[in-house]
Amino acid sequence: MARIVAGIGSSHVPAIGAALDNGKTEEPYWKRIFSGFEKSQAWMRETKPDVAIIVYNDHASAFSVEMIPTFALGCAAEFPPADEGWGPRPVPVVQGHPALASHIAQSVILDEFDLTICNKMEVDHGMTVPMNLLFGKVEKSGQWPCPVIPLAVNVVMYPPPTGHRCYMLGRAIRKAVESYPEDLKVVIFGTGGLSHQISGPRAGLINSKWDTNFLDNLSKNPQKLIKIPHIDYMREAGAEGIEMVMWLIMRGALDDKVDEVYRFYTVPASNTAVGHIILANRGRGGAARKSRAKPKRSSGKLKRAAARARVDRLRG
Ligand code: DHB
Ligand code: FE
Repeated sequence: MARIVAGIGSSHVPAIGAALDNGKTEEPYWKRIFSGFEKSQAWMRETKPDVAIIVYNDHASAFSVEMIPTFALGCAAEFPPADEGWGPRPVPVVQGHPALASHIAQSVILDEFDLTICNKMEVDHGMTVPMNLLFGKVEKSGQWPCPVIPLAVNVVMYPPPTGHRCYMLGRAIRKAVESYPEDLKVVIFGTGGLSHQISGPRAGLINSKWDTNFLDNLSKNPQKLIKIPHIDYMREAGAEGIEMVMWLIMRGALDDKVDEVYRFYTVPASNTAVGHIILANRGRGGAARKSRAKPKRSSGKLKRAAARARVDRLRG
């Protein structure tokens, strides 16, 4: 059966993609940001997921104010990078996983979450920038390391979904994944944020205290986060801070108790506070397990100790 082994939170600032595409990663401003993801890329190479579900938001690239689904699941075989005004980013076309995606659509819709199904969709920086941060730079002629199932969330036009709805959708996605018969190792990304506002009198707003509190609660006490109303995100984290509700879909898809494998926070990138976290499930098949070939007799206690040891190594 398929299993979600870990959740990854990552900002999606478009200028990070531009810095990568234009060879600026060694400049001090950008190095500060990219170096915060080096350990995460090593973790990703070691974890080797079979599929990544990426919860992200489209910025009027695939959708527009004329038509904007609240939750849209990408069930296509591939997702080309969108032209966001400067031509498509020089990254490979994203390969989908139509079989698992359709299974998730069926399970989640029959669980009464009314997803829009997208059989053709281009993807913008909301998805490709977090992919670069976690998978590293991949030439346009190359291939991303695993297939991806995009889940686009409306956080650009009022009303976005509530944090609670997002969290519950995450739970339904987890149930869907766990009822898929093939033995797949799945990771789920929550992307966007953290605090930022890119226009209006409060442009440039960043609230590090809010962001740190959000990351702490995401790790240890997500029930606190799901009660936060939209107006608090807007007031405290800026108009675009509302993107953070997408991280709650990722968190809802994980165990109640998780191991925080890694965290990184820096201010700013462009107008935005960059936040990143990796949370690993402790259960059977969790990212803490080195491989499926491990002896079955190892107890849950031993597995948790091994997980903690890996977390400590990464933090070190
Ligand atoms: C910026 C941040 C975003 O989340 C986005 O979608 C566009 C721009 C910025 O900080 O420049
Ligand atoms: Fe954005």
